[in-house]
Parts: sequence; structure tokens; C-alpha cells
Amino acid sequence: MFDRNGNDSSTYNQENIAEIRKTSPRVADLIEKEYNRQKNNVELIASENYCSEAVMAACGSCLSWKYAEGYPAKPIERHSGNKGRYYGGTRYVDELEEYCCDMWRKVFDTDYHVNVQPHSGSQANFAAYKAVLEPGDTILSLNLDNGGHLTHGSAVNFSGKLYDVHFYNVDENGFIDMEDLKKKANELHPKLILTGASAYSRTIDFPAFAEIAKSVDAYFMVDMAHIAGLVAGGEHISPFGYADIITTTTHKTLRGPRGGMIFCREELAKKVDSAVFPYAQGGPLEHIIAGKAVCAEEALRPEFKEYAHQVVVNCKAFAEEFIKMGYNVVTGGTDNHVFLLDLSDHEFSGRDLQNALDEVGITLNKNCVPNEKRSPMQTSGVRVGTAPMTTRGFKEEDFIKVAHRIDEVVKQLDAEKAAEK
Ligand SMILES: Cc1ncc(COP(=O)(O)O)c(C=O)c1O
Repeated sequence: MFDRNGNDSSTYNQENIAEIRKTSPRVADLIEKEYNRQKNNVELIASENYCSEAVMAACGSCLSWKYAEGYPAKPIERHSGNKGRYYGGTRYVDELEEYCCDMWRKVFDTDYHVNVQPHSGSQANFAAYKAVLEPGDTILSLNLDNGGHLTHGSAVNFSGKLYDVHFYNVDENGFIDMEDLKKKANELHPKLILTGASAYSRTIDFPAFAEIAKSVDAYFMVDMAHIAGLVAGGEHISPFGYADIITTTTHKTLRGPRGGMIFCREELAKKVDSAVFPYAQGGPLEHIIAGKAVCAEEALRPEFKEYAHQVVVNCKAFAEEFIKMGYNVVTGGTDNHVFLLDLSDHEFSGRDLQNALDEVGITLNKNCVPNEKRSPMQTSGVRVGTAPMTTRGFKEEDFIKVAHRIDEVVKQLDAEKAAEK
């Protein structure tokens, strides 16, 4: 794991690269270049993080060799031939998968059913919809321009093609507009109300969502992919107890391996399980499931609570510094790990800033802002996140320095545009 200055206290990556080099110098070279890029850059992408060597080792373990289509058999059935799986030899992966599920229930202090097999967040959402909807059913979700994810109803994604998706918006200050949600829920009577976001910096009021969903007899689903680590660390209100179905990724603020999970109320368990396998996927990635279990153990440690708290403290200080320098931060601040800089009043685009920052070793991504005037390929904003650099030990004062470095680059771009004119 890299520290704040890019020193790696472990030889794990170097040893891996040396092993790969024996077979493929080309692949080893590319991995080494990416390793150095990550090591030397300030990483501000809100959906990324650095997982531990223990997580990586689990993901690179012999479990990658095992097929285990199906689900763990109940212990009593295991002796009589792995009834829940379509393959033999699953005794240990059965135990592992059950252990992983138990650990995640512990992390979120819940008795919800959990499925740890989804290969990604998108596949978790695909299966979650399948569990409670028929094609053509109505979903009410957060507008993608206002922070929603591709799988929440984009016209180019399965979600927008298979379902009748309508959107609620944010208000003129960038906060989720609960009145708009209520009005549309009453008009549309959706079968599913969905919340969760890829670029929303404020606390989501799950109890209020649940109440509105109940009033129109809709399922309530939360995609907590971005904030799951903050929920686990007690820094964001938990959706458990409010939502019928909850999806997440494990590689963002949770700091685990790349993958997805679905939690649901017990009465939906069978539907969710069969929507993941055999409907959406084949054999589960047991090596990734091992990584998810290690990640859960890490999330249960007191240090993880401290980490989640520092992510939010850092993000508030970072956003505040931009506000002090006169920037427009969407919603005027943040409650979580992310905020959006609205650059609509500059001549350059979000993409221009993303590219210019790349040149000076700062990685972030362009992002649409509410009332976006530019195309999604250009955008008028950038998304800024604190989860990865907090893992590397950055504190408030470090992010304040980065804010000033970004400001220098913004001024340079302003000057270039002025000179062009
Ligand atoms: C809110 C949300 N849901 C789902 C996903 C999809 O996750 P994946 O990239 O693992 O498919 C993302 C990814 O960024 C996300 O932000």
C-alpha cells in the first residue's frame, strides 16, 4: 500500500510483477507503468480506492480455479452430496461463501438475506430489478444528469431498455427534490422507487424515501455503491430496515475487491438468488468472494470507522477550501466522500480540466452538473472524491494543498482561453 508520498511499504506488487514478467514482459511492463502512475499521482476519483494486500492475495488465490455454480448447501446436506451446487468439491467454498455472507450481515448489523455472488455493481442491479420487476414495469429513479448511475435507467443501458424508467430531480440548490419525488410517485405509481447515486454529495433521507414508497405501494431499492463504506463506518444513515432491496459494489468506499452484492428482506431471498444465478450469471468468482470476506473483516475493525470518519472530514475541508477561493461547489458543500465543482462560468469544460490535471499528476473525472449545458463528453463540472487518498493517509491540510494546486491549473486554463479569444 502506498503512503502519502507514494512509498510502498510492501513488496507485494513488485513480486507479482516479477512473476508475471517471467511469462509476459509486455503485460508486466504495462502493469508496472500503471503501478507507478497510481503511486505517483494524487487520485481523486470518487469511485476508486486502494484495497489491502490481504484482499489482493485472496483474489489471486487458488479459489480462482474452482467452479461452484449454485449456492452453498445447508451443512446437513453437504455430507450427502452438495445439493445446492452443480459441482462436486465445494465443501470449502460453501463454508467460505456462508462465512462471507455472515460477515457482511455483521458489518451492516442486519438480518437481511445477502447474495455475495454478483460480479459487479451493474450485475447486482440487473439481478435486483429482475427479482422484483417484469419487463415494462415502471421505475422512478434519480435523474442521471443529477447524479444517478447508468444502470438507473439510461436509455443506452439494459435498465432503460427493459423498464419504463422515469426520473426525479434535484432542486435548484442541487439537493434531491423530495416534493418532485412525491409528486411523480403519486402520478406514476411506480413498481419500484430507487435511490443511490454516483455523484451526489448529500445525505440521502432513506426513511423519507421508504415512506413515499410505502404510500404508493412500491418496492424501495437503495443502490449504496458509493456510500457503502460510510454506512459501514457509521458516517451515513443506514438503508437497512427501510429498503426492501439494497445493492452495492465492494470496491469504492468499502475498499474491497472489484465486485457487487445484494441484500434483501427475507421474503425476496429466493427471487434475488435465482435472479443472480441462473438468470444473470454462471459460476461465482469464489476468489473474489474470499476477497469480499477479507474486506468485511477489515470493515469490522475500529480503524475502518476512523477511516470512514476521516474520509468525510477531509471531504468537507477540501470542498470548504474551494468555496473560500470563490468556486461554485454544487449544494454548497458535502456530507460524504464526494463533491462536484460546477465550472459553468468558465470558458473551458470539465474535460479540459480533467486533461490538464492529468498532466500534473492529479486524477479526477469530468462530470455533469445540475442544469448541464454541455454534452456528457465535455461537461461543465468535475467530480472530486477523498476515499483513495484518505487510505494513503491524507489529512485535511493535504487536501487543502491539492485544492490550491487545482486552482493554479484552473487559472492557467482561464488564461489560455482568454489568450485564444
Ligand atoms: C451508484 C452505482 N451503482 C452501480 C455502479 C456499477 O458498478 P460496476 O462498475 O461495478 O458495474 C456504480 C459504478 O460506478 C455506481 O456508482
